Amino acid sequence: MKADYILKTQNLSKFFDGLKALNGVNIGVEKNKLTLVIGPNGSGKTTLINTISGFYKADEGKVIFEGKDITNLPPHEISRLGVVRTFQIPQPLKKLTVLENLLVAPENYGENVFESFGKNWLKKEEEYVEKAFRILEFLGIDHLWDREAYKLSGGQLKLLEVGRALMKDAKLVITDEPIAGVNPVLSHDILSRFTELKMRGVSFLIVEHRLDIILQYVDYIYVMAAGEVIAQGREEEILSNRKVVEVYLGAEGGKS
Ligand SMILES: Nc1ncnc2c1ncn2[C@@H]1O[C@H](COP(=O)(O)OP(=O)(O)OP(=O)(O)O)[C@@H](O)[C@H]1O
Ligand SMILES: [Mg+2]
Repeated sequence: MKADYILKTQNLSKFFDGLKALNGVNIGVEKNKLTLVIGPNGSGKTTLINTISGFYKADEGKVIFEGKDITNLPPHEISRLGVVRTFQIPQPLKKLTVLENLLVAPENYGENVFESFGKNWLKKEEEYVEKAFRILEFLGIDHLWDREAYKLSGGQLKLLEVGRALMKDAKLVITDEPIAGVNPVLSHDILSRFTELKMRGVSFLIVEHRLDIILQYVDYIYVMAAGEVIAQGREEEILSNRKVVEVYLGAEGGKS
């Protein structure tokens, strides 16, 4: 069966003062699948997702989302199209409650000043609160709705980050190390919710080092080294790939 890609990069490159942080990267993210990017520290994984989501400008190549060229669009436009990169909740927002964090997430919230003074204002407000609660319920953190974010555990904060992406109607969620520092039980909880979201039409592009936990949730893997994709495939092919073992799996120093 032919793969249905929601996002593709074509020869994507990003240079920092002569350093080829990304060097002609071609990846494809299949619709309703979870695509994992792995590789040693400094291999360009974070640079790749920052370039896809518009936080870095590409020097060469293209990013195609749903058949549309989105290369170097500003991050808010890319996010509005449905490509949402999650971020750690910034300090000022940590003083807000869980619910408030969701309500400040949608970009178009109160975008139209005139509309926001109109008679639909209250109705809109109610709809956002309702949507936020549905998302919190889905993520299993609705009981924490009035808790300030700084009081949440690391794993609960990760769920809140995902909740903020869902508020923006993300079609493709891009997350850098979603289970780093999260205990195994909550990690599995987060990842099984990703699996459920896949069935609801959300696709994922994830960077993660914790292979012991994440591999069972992954549909396809890209391996990067020194700014290039050195291997791609399903778990079995990747784990037995000699190059991958050499640069990443075998090198304990490569994982953190
Ligand atoms: N803003 C920047 N300015 C200059 N160099 C950068 C910048 N961002 C990344 N780099 C460099 O690009 C290379 C790739 O870094 P990147 O953060 O993408 O790696 P990574 O694969 O995410 O590593 P890790 O697993 O440690 O998170 C590194 O050599 C890094 O120092
Ligand atoms: Mg990184």
